[in-house]
Amino acid sequence: MQLTEFFPKTIIEPFRIRSVEPIRFSTMTTRKQALKKAGYNPFLLHADDVIIDLLTDSGTGAMSSRQWAGMIASDESYAGSSSFYRFLSAVKDITGFKHVIPTHQGRAAEHILFSNIAKEGDIIPNNSHFDTTRAHVENQGAVARDLVSPSGLDFAALLPFKGNIDLDALLALVEGEGRERIPAIMLTVTNNSGGGQPVSMANIRGVSKIARTNGIPFYLDACRFAENAWFIKSREKEYADVAIIDIAREMFGYADGCTMSAKKDGMSNIGGFLALNDDVLAARCRSMEILTEGFPTYGGMAGYDMEAVACGLYEAMDEDYLHYRIRSIEYLGEKLIAAGIPIVRPTGGHALYINARAMLPHIPPLKYPGWSLQNGLYLLGGIRGVEIGTVMFGLQPDGTEKPAAQDLVRLAFPRRVYTQSHVDYIAEIVINLHEQRDALPGYRIIEQTPVLRHFTARLVPV
Ligand code: F0G
Repeated sequence: MQLTEFFPKTIIEPFRIRSVEPIRFSTMTTRKQALKKAGYNPFLLHADDVIIDLLTDSGTGAMSSRQWAGMIASDESYAGSSSFYRFLSAVKDITGFKHVIPTHQGRAAEHILFSNIAKEGDIIPNNSHFDTTRAHVENQGAVARDLVSPSGLDFAALLPFKGNIDLDALLALVEGEGRERIPAIMLTVTNNSGGGQPVSMANIRGVSKIARTNGIPFYLDACRFAENAWFIKSREKEYADVAIIDIAREMFGYADGCTMSAKKDGMSNIGGFLALNDDVLAARCRSMEILTEGFPTYGGMAGYDMEAVACGLYEAMDEDYLHYRIRSIEYLGEKLIAAGIPIVRPTGGHALYINARAMLPHIPPLKYPGWSLQNGLYLLGGIRGVEIGTVMFGLQPDGTEKPAAQDLVRLAFPRRVYTQSHVDYIAEIVINLHEQRDALPGYRIIEQTPVLRHFTARLVPV
């Protein structure tokens, strides 16, 4: 008798672990003290006091042995280092853009871009602006307009590309306001603030057409381009047999430039870039880069950071890795859905989002249900997530406050860091917290800054 090939259902982590980092366990009593000391703001906790850290997938991933090898062999020359050229060649190979401006992280690229293109009275449309993107647009006196498709705001709709921008609304905006007021159209892939939902190639193509017909530059916020490409491959029929790198190249090919945080799909702990085709704008951006980041062959990065990014960009496109990553989040989602917990569906790329407003109807939006849920997860299980809701987005430029469009808690997965048993633990904690949800209090802010208040605000339970 011959053995028949068997295809197991279990998707294993596609790596072996050769270097480990201890987790420090804590009790609910010590976590209560730690949270109080941190002004009930998980951003202000010591990371040592966290058991599973899902605050962000940004810069928190594990690097590969290849990345570390590149880092050790880096060239730290101030100008023209070989590490820069490896970085440049990787970015150009994948994005195809003519000019690459290295930065220390994504928001530095946003800062350089928007200070050179946006001014008072301008409008920047996007599917959904991430908080730093919005802040940089508003810092120029311009308006950041979110035009995600209506399905993107319907957390239950089981649709494949809920990160899509509403093309009709985009066209209406361009025609209504005039292209003079719109210095760029942005598209965030995947759509972080909207639930980590992907954008289809058809939608990217549609934006490109509107942008090109009207002579408006089109930029991708490309932080999670590889995860987006994976969704295109798995959900958009004609891409089923296309390699991830070719999908990525096509995505970038429709745009005129991109901002990138290499802390996400660059698989690195720090780094980023602005890439673009416009020669004149690139020259202006470069002189600003020298002022704020550093010489154009390192930007804000060390040679070893550029090595890590050059290698990481390709590792992020590995299909076994992407399969494992997207599946881990889906796996957690299935457990929570089975327990009746309202989450954003389908699960997205880098994170799972719990709909706190739906889970905690006894807490009104201005008492911050998302904040309460994230703190509950910390107290019960030492899990740190992040509120994407009224504390993050509710404060208006004129100082007034209104409920955000949504109150979500994001559980973002660091890349290649946690295993299936960590995910099982997370599921157990969320499910138990859901059973005890009536015990969660609202919160009140007692100290805040006028911009990006969620990072430093201090709160008290009410
Ligand atoms: N754009 C998006 C879509 C992002 O998610 C982020 C960062 C940035 C831009 C800015 O990049 O942090 O390198 O300056 N997001 C992180 C997060 C912080 O937790 O989602 P950065």
